[in-house]
Amino acid sequence: MNLTRHEEGILNGSFGEGKALAMRLLVTLGEVFEAERMIPVGSAQVSGVSYKTIGDPGIDFLEDLASKGARAVVKATLNPTGMDLRHWRDHGVPENFANKQLRIVSAFKKMNVSTTCTCIPYYAGNRPRFGTDIAWAESSAVAFANSVLGAKTNREGGPAALASAIVGRTPLYGLHLPENRKPTHIVKLESPLNSQLDFSAFGYAVGDRIPQSVPLIEGLAKKPSLDELKALGASMAAAGAIGLYHIHNVTPESSRFHVEDTAKLSRIVISEKEIREALQKLSTTDDFDHVCLGCPHMSLTEICNLAKRINGKKLKKPIWCFTSRRVYSQALKKGYVAKITRAGGKVVNDTCMIVAPFEEMNLRAILTDSCKAAHYFPSMCKSDVTLGTLEQIVEKVT
Ligand code: F3S
Repeated sequence: MNLTRHEEGILNGSFGEGKALAMRLLVTLGEVFEAERMIPVGSAQVSGVSYKTIGDPGIDFLEDLASKGARAVVKATLNPTGMDLRHWRDHGVPENFANKQLRIVSAFKKMNVSTTCTCIPYYAGNRPRFGTDIAWAESSAVAFANSVLGAKTNREGGPAALASAIVGRTPLYGLHLPENRKPTHIVKLESPLNSQLDFSAFGYAVGDRIPQSVPLIEGLAKKPSLDELKALGASMAAAGAIGLYHIHNVTPESSRFHVEDTAKLSRIVISEKEIREALQKLSTTDDFDHVCLGCPHMSLTEICNLAKRINGKKLKKPIWCFTSRRVYSQALKKGYVAKITRAGGKVVNDTCMIVAPFEEMNLRAILTDSCKAAHYFPSMCKSDVTLGTLEQIVEKVT
């Protein structure tokens, strides 16, 4: 790679051992992907935060890096941890797990990574502008940033995103290059999408059919909401590692592609049949003992919708809602948290249904509205899952 003199200096240790280590990681990554040079990044979203996913080797890596003086030099935010950092005792998180988790969070804090602990950083103070190069890990956030915000990021791993936060740069390859942001397939939707779960299942079907593609979607009956786009991208990423999609007349880059650019692309059709098949494939049970919502983390609008629907009712089975502290405090002020809690639900911060140690916390089966959660839950939490729309969920538990 062609490095500037300043970048060479970082690599050679002139700016400290921690920064040199981070630069070494980025140079290796750049060489693997044949990047010509480094580019500056506007922000980083760092994943690999839960003790459940990174274990003791992860703690050693982070504490070592922090002790070598590595510090984030651009805005850097953090993915969900393995527990609600304030209320983990109330949720039955094992003490040993909690202690390790707290060490991880304090290593990140030491490195100036903001402990937002959410996978929707764009609702927690990290919302890049159109065209900005960023280095984000967390596949659902990557899909949202690239597709909905028009920022540019590869699907980074946790260590690479952290290294970019520390150096302020990323290798120039992949989705940072305009030629790789062009659609590779046309997806013709031939089904109405009547709920957020339908968006999630549609995304899953697309990811399953054309993994690692850049789909250009046509045929949506109405302009989707931000929450629907959030659900769509998350399941597309889970099923097919898709980091960027375009929707005709909706997403900001879609207008750049003209008929003549897309005429030669392969076309697939997704109908109601594929959407129902995705839902069936992901459901491993009909029964459930908990409802889990918020994969990706819930927005204020989603919390408001739920609060209105269950206000004044008594839940027959618990609902756990996962969101960021930022959204939580907005929901608290508006009285939504009180309505959910009075009905018997919980609004949980800093963690999520996949990276929390649910397998050690007595959960047998969950009902959720997220295909991404359903994709990962059985393997990550050793439990069953079933899917429903918000409307169906509320009907089942009230
Ligand atoms: Fe977020 Fe956890 Fe789902 S990090 S996208 S809620 S798996």
